[in-house]
Formats: sequence, C-alpha cells, structure tokens
Amino acid sequence: MKQLSLFPEWEELETLKTRNEVLPDRIRQRLEIKFNPVMQEDLRLGQLVSYAGNKSIPLLRLYRYKEAFSFQLVQEFIKRFNLTEKDYLFDPFCGMVTTLFTAMQHPLSAVGIDKLPIGAFIASTLPLFLFIEPGILPETFAELKSMVSGAELGEVAGDVSIMKQAFSEEMLLLLRQWKGAITTLESPLKEIFLLLFLAILEPCSYTTKDGQFLRLNKDKQIPNPEEILQQKVKEAEADIITLRTLWKNKKYLPRPSVQIADARDLSTVNFEKQPTAIITSPP
Ligand SMILES: C[S@@+](CC[C@H](N)C(=O)[O-])C[C@H]1O[C@@H](n2cnc3c(N)ncnc32)[C@H](O)[C@@H]1O
Repeated sequence: MKQLSLFPEWEELETLKTRNEVLPDRIRQRLEIKFNPVMQEDLRLGQLVSYAGNKSIPLLRLYRYKEAFSFQLVQEFIKRFNLTEKDYLFDPFCGMVTTLFTAMQHPLSAVGIDKLPIGAFIASTLPLFLFIEPGILPETFAELKSMVSGAELGEVAGDVSIMKQAFSEEMLLLLRQWKGAITTLESPLKEIFLLLFLAILEPCSYTTKDGQFLRLNKDKQIPNPEEILQQKVKEAEADIITLRTLWKNKKYLPRPSVQIADARDLSTVNFEKQPTAIITSPP
C-alpha cells in the first residue's frame, strides 16, 4: 500500500526538535488553518474524553490506562459517522484498544497501531478474552497457584531505577515467581495472564499514579499478589460471561488487527484495505 502520511508537518517538527529549534506555534497554526474547515468543537463530549467511562465496561475495566478515552465516545462517533459492516476503521494511536474493542461489538473490521509496545500488547490481548470459554481462567489460575513456589523467576527490568524502590524485595521475588509461572503457559492464556499480571503491578507497588507521574508512597497498604490476581481473574471471568450473553446474537466478532508502528510513517502497517474512518485520540 502507498505510504499514507496523516500529518506531513510532523517531519518538519522532528527536524526542528533535533536542531533544538522551538517553533511549534508556527506549525500548530499551520495545522489549525489546514484542518479548520473540518474541525468541530463539541463541548458536550467533554465527559466522554476520559478513561473514567471505561471503569464499568467489561474487559476494558481490567487494565487502567489513564491516557484512554471511553467506549461511549467511540460508540457516539460510530453512530455519527453511520459506520456499517462495510467500513474499515483505523486508530493510529490505539492505546489500550478502546476504539477497536468498541468496533468489534458493532461488528466493524478495524486496525490499530501504537508506538508503545505495552499499548500494542494490551490492545492485541484484550480482544482475546472473548474467545476463551468460561471456566478456563479460574482453572488456569488454580494450576498457576500450584506452580508458583517452584517456578523459575521471571525477568524484571532491573535497569529501570524505580524498580529498586517500587517493590519490597519479598514482593519482587513473589511477583517474579508468578511471572515465571505465567510464561510457561501456551498462547493465548500466556498473554491473557500476563495482561492480568501487569494490571496488578501498580497496586502491589509503593507507587501511585498521580496525573502523568508515578509517586512513591512507602506507607501504602500492599495487598497479597495472589489475592489481587485472583480478584482480577474473577472480574475477567465475569466479563467473559457478561459479554458472551450480551453478544450472543452477533453473527461474528471481527478480531481487530493491532500492530506496533509509528503514526508518522504508515508504510510498515499492514492494512487489509483502505480505511474508511478514523477514530482516535492523539498524544
Ligand atoms: C491518548 S493515547 C490513546 C488512547 C486510546 N484512545 C485508548 O482509548 O486507549 C495516545 C497513544 O498514542 C501513542 N503514540 C504516541 N506517539 C505515537 C506515534 N508517533 N505513533 C503511534 N502511536 C503513538 C501512545 O503510546 C498512546 O498509547
């Protein structure tokens, strides 16, 4: 497919950055003029441009990605754009999958990219839960529990300085045992349990998210990782059952394609066809 470039001005912005020349206002102005005819401000949507709406949505509630927008916002745009099964939706900054997940339930084919591997991992893993039979997650959790004490220790990013302060030695050992046990699973259960494991790291650490930053709080009450992981498994199991019931009459569930890529260069992205709609929230 021919290279698509959403914002050619970014290239210029990057060059300015590398030369330490700061002229973003000029570029911003140029972008605003260019897109002005198609821009529409709608302050009523303000409340939906936040992750808060996802806290009650099955599966999307499992992993907190504060940069996310909400399921309800994507639904609103799918409605406004009158998207149908014939459309092909693209999210160039797909984060934790809100656009693609919402597209699945319509059902709409969709493709998403994210530059951040963790974003792309969450985005490609969350839809997999829908293809897991009820009962499998609690069963796998029980197997993992029996393996943990003898498991090889999973890898940690020891070179990241916050790791040394975020967890007690005892907690780090326990978490590495759980990670080691999880990595022995086959796909897709390996990815699914890794996602649930990633979701418990913040509660098991001395850190708390404060806006875009992590704060250290040594007085924080730290739960037992086994208990909190079990709680996540229960939530995931309940969500699988809920969505299977809600979506039981769907003819099919299109599995979205998620790729690690940079929105400034779409030449590496594998599109099935030319996208007909974009729903996204840029960084
Ligand atoms: C505001 S978040 C999008 C959240 C998403 N709408 C959701 O609901 O989860 C922006 C995302 O853009 C990604 N990103 C930043 N620069 C990027 C780039 N150049 N190409 C692709 N993704 C990028 C970030 O990793 C982040 O996940």
